[in-house]
Amino acid sequence: MIAVLGAMDGEVETVVAHLNRDRVHRFGTFVFHVGRLDDVEVIVGKSGVGKARAAMVTQHLIEQFRLDSLVFTGLAGSINPDIRIGDTLVARDSIQHDLDATPLGFARGEIPYEHVRVIASDLRLVERARTVVPASGTVHVGRILTGDQFISQNGLRTMDYLRTELHGDAVEMEGASVASVCAFNDLPFCLIRTISDEANRDARVDFERFLPIASANSFHFIRALIAADSP
Ligand code: ADE
Repeated sequence: MIAVLGAMDGEVETVVAHLNRDRVHRFGTFVFHVGRLDDVEVIVGKSGVGKARAAMVTQHLIEQFRLDSLVFTGLAGSINPDIRIGDTLVARDSIQHDLDATPLGFARGEIPYEHVRVIASDLRLVERARTVVPASGTVHVGRILTGDQFISQNGLRTMDYLRTELHGDAVEMEGASVASVCAFNDLPFCLIRTISDEANRDARVDFERFLPIASANSFHFIRALIAADSP
């Protein structure tokens, strides 16, 4: 079974709409749809916004279902001028950019005392995703930075370490957290984001406008990943 998560309902609604649904699974206020997509068993739903909710939901699904892989999808803000609004970014790896124990001598983003900083996605899933031909835009493979902040221009100006120190390509609010839970549980993980904004002062408007486009784009990628697993 493949788990497909996005932070918000709007980020996974196209996958839900195409699912041949058998049942729902509830976890508190969260509702997950269980069924088949092109004959592959899928569970799809939202993780909630931010690292805590996303980690909680991921661990719950891992414990309740026999997952073969987990794909997280949705929107991200580009901080790389070569990656434009409408493009797709497949994360080769991710870092929690707001995890900062530098006063203790740890690198920014490093989980103290665990030697974990850069969390790699599953290479096989990344290779599959990078060859998908999107309906529009370009597919990039790069580094996604995760933090409990929606980044707009003011934030970014004081956060030049996102590019210079962490070498990030885009920012969002869940990916590295989910990646870290999957790594802890040895579950293959892939993170696919549609670029909705450039983390600048237009970010809010672009983000809201892009939700339905991202949902359709995510579905296109999920379907292509699943096709490789179809019986
Ligand atoms: N997701 C989409 N755009 C974002 C931004 N600018 N900051 C954080 N998360 C985002």
